[in-house]
Amino acid sequence: MAKHTVVTMPGDGIGNQVLPEALRVLKAVGFDAEYIHADIGWDIWCNEGNALPDRTIELLKKHKLGLFGAITSKPNKEAQAELKPELRGKGLVYYSPIVTMRQKFNLDICMRPCIGFIGNPLNYIRKRTDGGFDEPKVDTTVFRQGTEGMYVGVEWTNPPENVRAALNTHPRFKAFNSVPGPDLAVSVRIITRAAARRIVTAAFEYAKKRGFKGVTICEKPNVVRETSGMMEETAKEVAKGYPGIALWSTNIDAQLMWLNKNPEEYNVIVASNLFGDILSDAFAGLVGGLGFAASGNIGDEVSVFEPTHGSAPKYAELNPPIVNPIAMILSAAMMLDHVGEGAKADRIRKAITEVVQEGKVRTYDMMRIPGGAKAIGQGAASTVQMGDAILAKLK
Ligand code: NAI
Ligand code: MG
Repeated sequence: MAKHTVVTMPGDGIGNQVLPEALRVLKAVGFDAEYIHADIGWDIWCNEGNALPDRTIELLKKHKLGLFGAITSKPNKEAQAELKPELRGKGLVYYSPIVTMRQKFNLDICMRPCIGFIGNPLNYIRKRTDGGFDEPKVDTTVFRQGTEGMYVGVEWTNPPENVRAALNTHPRFKAFNSVPGPDLAVSVRIITRAAARRIVTAAFEYAKKRGFKGVTICEKPNVVRETSGMMEETAKEVAKGYPGIALWSTNIDAQLMWLNKNPEEYNVIVASNLFGDILSDAFAGLVGGLGFAASGNIGDEVSVFEPTHGSAPKYAELNPPIVNPIAMILSAAMMLDHVGEGAKADRIRKAITEVVQEGKVRTYDMMRIPGGAKAIGQGAASTVQMGDAILAKLK
């Protein structure tokens, strides 16, 4: 019997192109695992009215480890229109299966490393006053709270009367008192102390492991006093347990400016759900963008690793496929770290480092050319060729 069982969820679109490359790499480093396919995503929604079917939930419950590609999500109207005719009008509501998965299994630690590879032509550079350029090494990992904050889904357009009545008890709601219901939308931001403590602790543990000298809490406590306030207050408490590591605090708006000035100064950032989502995309843009952005959704029991990119439908039908599998492969490496196979993960990252640094094999995104069928003719490597190049370095 294999040591590990991994539930593989390629999902939609390019998820089906990048996940197989990660599996090839995992096999090449000798990861002792068997893989069980599980359904997730848009096609499953259209045919069954549920993008995350119970059988997939059961598999994750049982095996506790998932590798996920990407899914397609569409707005409500289209979700209804594309449902199989016999499922329409039954009150089925589309929910993002990733958000549902995070909430169902309490995958509250969302870890998103944005670490530059030497020689990546997409790396951040900074112009010097003498006209030259600096290319500082960006090595930032964002710890995003994955289950709460702005993404809890407690929201209304035209809130029911009792909700309005409750809101009316707050003096600041007076300004909205006379807005007609259909013209009023409310989304609730929820932070709990326990979840805040867990995400901040994960950030500090990581900083300790990597030997970084500080952790940055990135919120907006001067304005969003209650929820951002609780994040920051909790961070201060947790920081007391890590005397060698400083706690820095930045506001989300200012942080987005500073990451364009001195990104190398931020190694570990912790934030609530929405802010962490924004920050991790922003930092990913400094190290190559979606083709390089990996992530882990880590819970106490279950963990799921995935590239942060989506299903890129416009490229999903291309043959050969052209998208960059590195984000997916790096996500698989994070999975190896998580199950105590760090040496294998390091081998994978080293192989990617070598391929990127050599610069002989580059997918279209790494060449800064438009994606599409013509990319291959312009010298871009296909998804599989990039996988091959990484495999060759592992030999
Ligand atoms: P996307 O991430 O799928 O693609 C945006 C663009 O980024 C692509 O058109 C492509 O130019 C580039 N790109 C993405 N992955 C790449 C890769 N591996 N290599 C090279 N280039 C890459 O985001 P988009 O187009 O906004 O959304 C498409 C669908 O994906 C939507 O239905 C959306 O809801 C869903 N989505 C799913 C996510 C997930 O599964 N975690 C995350 C984001 C979007
Ligand atoms: Mg995102």
